[in-house]
Amino acid sequence: MTHAEAHSRIATLRTELARHDERYYRHAQPEISDFEYDTLKRELADLELRFPELALGESPTRRVGDDRSEGFVRVKHRVAMTTLDNTYDETELREFHARLVKALGTDDLAYTIEPKIDGVAVSLTFENGKLIRAVTRGDGEEGDDVTANVRTIRGLPHSLKPADDLLAQPVPAVIEIRGEVFLRDEEFRRINQTQEEMGEALYANPRNLAAGTLKQLDSKLVATRRLEIVLYGLGACEPAPTGFDSQSSFQSQLRVWGLPVADKFWTVRGIDAVWAAIGELDALRRGFAFATDGAVVKLDLFSQQVVVGYRGAGQAARKLSPRWACAYKFAPDRAETRIRAITLQVGRTGAVTPVAELEPVLLAGTTVKRATLHNADEIARKDVRVGDAVLVEKAGEIIPAVVQVLVEKRPPHCEAYVFPSECPVCGTPLVREEGGVKWMCPNPACPEKVRRKIEHFASKASLDIDGLGEEVVDLLLTRGLIKTIPDLFRLKVEDLLPLKKSGEVWATNLVNGIAARRTTDLWRVIHGLGIPQVGAASAKDLARRFRSLDALASASLNDLVQIEGFGEKTAEAVRTWFGDETNRALVAGLQAAGVVPTPPAEAAAGAVLAGKTVVLTGTLPTLTREQATEKIEAAGGKVSGSVSRKTHYVLAGEEAGSKLEKARTLGVPVLDEAEFLELIGD
Ligand code: IVH
Repeated sequence: MTHAEAHSRIATLRTELARHDERYYRHAQPEISDFEYDTLKRELADLELRFPELALGESPTRRVGDDRSEGFVRVKHRVAMTTLDNTYDETELREFHARLVKALGTDDLAYTIEPKIDGVAVSLTFENGKLIRAVTRGDGEEGDDVTANVRTIRGLPHSLKPADDLLAQPVPAVIEIRGEVFLRDEEFRRINQTQEEMGEALYANPRNLAAGTLKQLDSKLVATRRLEIVLYGLGACEPAPTGFDSQSSFQSQLRVWGLPVADKFWTVRGIDAVWAAIGELDALRRGFAFATDGAVVKLDLFSQQVVVGYRGAGQAARKLSPRWACAYKFAPDRAETRIRAITLQVGRTGAVTPVAELEPVLLAGTTVKRATLHNADEIARKDVRVGDAVLVEKAGEIIPAVVQVLVEKRPPHCEAYVFPSECPVCGTPLVREEGGVKWMCPNPACPEKVRRKIEHFASKASLDIDGLGEEVVDLLLTRGLIKTIPDLFRLKVEDLLPLKKSGEVWATNLVNGIAARRTTDLWRVIHGLGIPQVGAASAKDLARRFRSLDALASASLNDLVQIEGFGEKTAEAVRTWFGDETNRALVAGLQAAGVVPTPPAEAAAGAVLAGKTVVLTGTLPTLTREQATEKIEAAGGKVSGSVSRKTHYVLAGEEAGSKLEKARTLGVPVLDEAEFLELIGD
């Protein structure tokens, strides 16, 4: 590779990786699998090593991904949170050991081997044994305060169990304990099913869902999802630890304190025993109820860890990763097959998604026939062609993905794939999504978009019309009985009779079912409109705030951003939607068809907290969080997880942390329990 080629490849890789970091850490929506990501990162690191003169400047190889997001208070870690170097390779693992042998002058080294759970790293601070704070890794130096959310984790005690033994060590004054927040596979499936029923986006895998959940602003929602945690690492400890001097004794101490730790870990001597333990873990992990993507190997003795130290520690730059630990990752389940065709799916919003139609192949217990190709850019990047032999991987739990083309097995005369410039359904020229990677069909009358919109309108999460599923919608459209959503309300039994043999009961039920939904909750109708960015939860917020379709249609951007939890993006999406003539015609059509949406019941007249947002923090003297929430809602208020300028009150109890600080900075009124009870006249 020439210098110029390396220069350009390094630039490309840095941009690509920065984009993937953003998707993974900030939005919990990765586009590529961990393995693909690690491969790109490895390629960049190798190039930077070969061309050190090009290695200067900002690079994803020299920072940990940044997970900090809007709406959270930022907290500095006492001791920086680093990440680990990954390897998929036994030789590299043995090289890790060889480096330690050299640095420490002995080959008799003890290691612990722990399951590497695929979740989100957090740091818990305990002061005098009490959990006072939970913070995400952030950029390693400073993370987001997620204490309220972490407190909802059932298996996590809020204080360290003191030892019964009088001679035992007292709990440290301050200790940072690091661990991983994750979701079991079963819980992941349960939540995704609810998401699907509610018409919300599905999460690709348990890690994304755990990350997305931890970053919810509403801890009440978080409490409905069973997050779990295991602890495995030590950050700051003041005074210096006395009861433990190694990773294995630290693990035992965590258990004594009553904290959740991994069910299984190994402490062994020498690298052969490490490799054997990894093999045991690999055999066991398939039976685990949570995703374990590797093994973390740590030099056991803290004194030896101190000797070898961290990478990057010498420079002014921050510490990067410990030399005393290494993550061995298990290669993902993959299978080889061939692409028969590339088809395009047009979604309700017009997004066109390319799908590989495959020769069926068995992968991790299921037969895979189709796999996502993500988008046009990804097809071009991998140079995927019809006829290609490819590797497919279960990237997320739901949709398999094509991860690699086996170019050496490419049949002759296999032509490069050209992404169509026109909608495969209606022929309208596609336009690129603003600031995104998707190609969109802009035609509001595109039959596929219309079909998907009608399906969405009738679905459980919207109008919930009995008997109006995909098949029936398809039948009604192809027979020309409906063209738009309002047409549904004009269907007559006679129209439907010819569709099915002896279909009288069916036809009557369907017509009655549709008619019955003329009166329906306003939020269902709003959700059914299919406004981009507006899921069921936002639809409920809009219904509560505007109380009619007309009021919503004429809401200004300013009115919309006033809603708690509504950012500019959502507000703008709502404005843009109602600014469109076709959409306004849809609303008018529904009204003309006799659809009368019911606004949500108003809180008792003159309710003191009507339209007000309250944030709870700390422990109240008599009320539990649930009781306080009930009282706030009964008084017409809404509980929110984070303090912003839109917060009306902060209800603070003992050990209220950063939310109280933020309320003071923003000048939000702070109430104690007695003042709160007085305010609501309790
Ligand atoms: S130790 C300085 N131990 O995997 C040591 N990490 O790829 C930092 N992880 O950033 C971490 N299980 O989020 C450690 N038993 C374990 C772990 C573990 C999962 C995560 C953690 C880390 C990442 C490294």
